[in-house]
Amino acid sequence: MTTGRSPSSASASAALAPASSGLGGRTALVTGGGGGIGRACAVALAEAGATVHVADVDGAAAESVAAAVGGRAHVVDLADPAAVATLPTAVDVLVNNAGMQHVAPLTAFPPERFELMQRVMVTAPFLLIRQTLPHMYRGGWGRVVNISSVHGLRASAYKAAYVAAKHGLEGLSKVTAVEGAAHGVTSNCVSPGYVRTPLVEGQIRDQAVAHGVSAEDVLSGVLLARSPVKRLIEPAEVAAAVLWLCGPHSGHITGTSLPLDGGWGAC
Ligand SMILES: NC(=O)c1ccc[n+]([C@@H]2O[C@H](COP(=O)([O-])OP(=O)(O)OC[C@H]3O[C@@H](n4cnc5c(N)ncnc54)[C@H](O)[C@@H]3O)[C@@H](O)[C@H]2O)c1
Repeated sequence: MTTGRSPSSASASAALAPASSGLGGRTALVTGGGGGIGRACAVALAEAGATVHVADVDGAAAESVAAAVGGRAHVVDLADPAAVATLPTAVDVLVNNAGMQHVAPLTAFPPERFELMQRVMVTAPFLLIRQTLPHMYRGGWGRVVNISSVHGLRASAYKAAYVAAKHGLEGLSKVTAVEGAAHGVTSNCVSPGYVRTPLVEGQIRDQAVAHGVSAEDVLSGVLLARSPVKRLIEPAEVAAAVLWLCGPHSGHITGTSLPLDGGWGAC
């Protein structure tokens, strides 16, 4: 039987069909899902109906989030490729979120710390993309969302490893988009400015003590100095963008980076 429609017009109208916007029947893997942004992503994806695998080096945190979202916890150190290989591969949505920071001038930056950060923030995402794409390709649908940063697009002093890793992640994401397009797989980065997570709240406290100023001064004078929107973004706002990239009307958005930076990039 012929419908008189080309495969491309049929798939275009399928992409525009009114949403069953949920992710029911889909499986997601969120790295660093035990806290902060990863936790918010796990919650949002689960609320949309996905079965969520929560991978984190912090076992108690992973277990707690997995229990809260009805998902499964995996205790892994993403710096270890052998541990990465134990994670589930039959996932439709991969959120590469786990990350870490180290602040030091280039001349004093510990090489082993630089290398570790590339392993956790670039090599592990590469390995996870590599081992989950076959399942996505078989199903003709997949979503890779990489949690980058404003520092995936621009630099700040003293963050050599972080800026290098996030720029690397942006490049990896683009290659995934180019290769995945023919298989219904999109890949994008979500690139926030400063997010209200325990990590950032700790940085604010530390800097306030170090400089003898108030937490408000650190927030407005340092962290948000380059952001026209003078507040931290909430983890749930980042997760909402991730969820939208996994939704029914974003199949044409791929190979891009979505800044959630309060206008920082416009300055
Ligand atoms: N917080 C911010 O302001 C901000 C801004 C832009 C981008 N980001 C990015 O968002 C992501 C999440 O950041 P967050 O602020 O939620 O951090 P967080 O420290 O609150 O959470 C990170 C999670 O990753 C886990 N993790 C760290 N190293 C790991 C490893 N080797 N193996 C497995 N799990 C590991 C931690 O245990 C933790 O649960 C990171 O990639 C970060 O670079 C954060």
